[in-house]
Amino acid sequence: MTFSHKHLLGIEHLHPRDITAILDLADEYVDLNRRAEKHADALRGLTQVNMFFENSTRTQASFELAGKRLGADVMNMAMQASSIKKGETLIDTAMTLNAMHPDLLVVRHPHSGAVDLLAQKVNCAVLNAGDGRHEHPTQALLDALTIRRAKGRLHRLNIAICGDIAHSRVARSNLILLGKMENRIRLIGPPTLMPSQISEFGVEVYDDMREGLQDVDVVMMLRLQKERMDGGFIPSEREYYHRYGLDAEKLALAKPDAIVMHPGPMNRGVEIDGTIADDINRSVIQEQVEMGVAVRMAAMDLLARALKAQRLAEAG
Ligand code: NCD
Repeated sequence: MTFSHKHLLGIEHLHPRDITAILDLADEYVDLNRRAEKHADALRGLTQVNMFFENSTRTQASFELAGKRLGADVMNMAMQASSIKKGETLIDTAMTLNAMHPDLLVVRHPHSGAVDLLAQKVNCAVLNAGDGRHEHPTQALLDALTIRRAKGRLHRLNIAICGDIAHSRVARSNLILLGKMENRIRLIGPPTLMPSQISEFGVEVYDDMREGLQDVDVVMMLRLQKERMDGGFIPSEREYYHRYGLDAEKLALAKPDAIVMHPGPMNRGVEIDGTIADDINRSVIQEQVEMGVAVRMAAMDLLARALKAQRLAEAG
């Protein structure tokens, strides 16, 4: 399996072949992660640094576990969001870290494009763990793996992405990935939470959830990202739940075997009914978390192989 990319900055840069390569390798890591002995040595001797300038539970924990299971030395830098003053601070931090010779740098940052900028300044592989509302590639990959395992394929599915699309890097990366794999995508949400240039993406847009959910195979719910809103996007949480919250009545409009997804963290009773989220016959939310570790192992493994090949070529 070869991977020709130096970094994983977004789904935008990936070919469907790259996506399949990551998912195939991740399937192998799912098996490893279910064993009592979970160690492999794909990253042995390498140093992984996690730099999270924004809060994270799942993403940071799974990157850390992924690195440790593959034998890397993993360091978590505690980056206080309050200490970032954009541009210079970020680059200064990156240069300092770079001098310590990391091999893999995992970065989450509140500004769209910050991770791309950083990747130009360091000589190691950079993985985007979410930048502003731009991209969150490993989330889209873990969602893809979850869908592929639940549905047996990752093409020609009807997939609804619902809720706060405008502020969501998860929606953006998923839109790009699922589109590349030739699925039919519907975006459902109030017009105030739809990005303005959405028509360019070649998707169907609905503001009526009952209409949009008809016959879909996958229902992907998104968190209302209040930290990215400056007021006035929704009338009230109660009203929002009534119109756009996923409950049993609305879910009944999707296919009988439709799966329910959510990247977390969830606001129960705002975008999703707690009983739906916990229904093991419909919800794959826990599987998403499990796939997250495996996908991150696969992505770092493939980037490390590319890095080693590049270093060998430079040395020889
Ligand atoms: C998402 C994120 O941070 O972009 N969470 C995650 O990575 N699992 C989605 C969100 O914050 O709503």
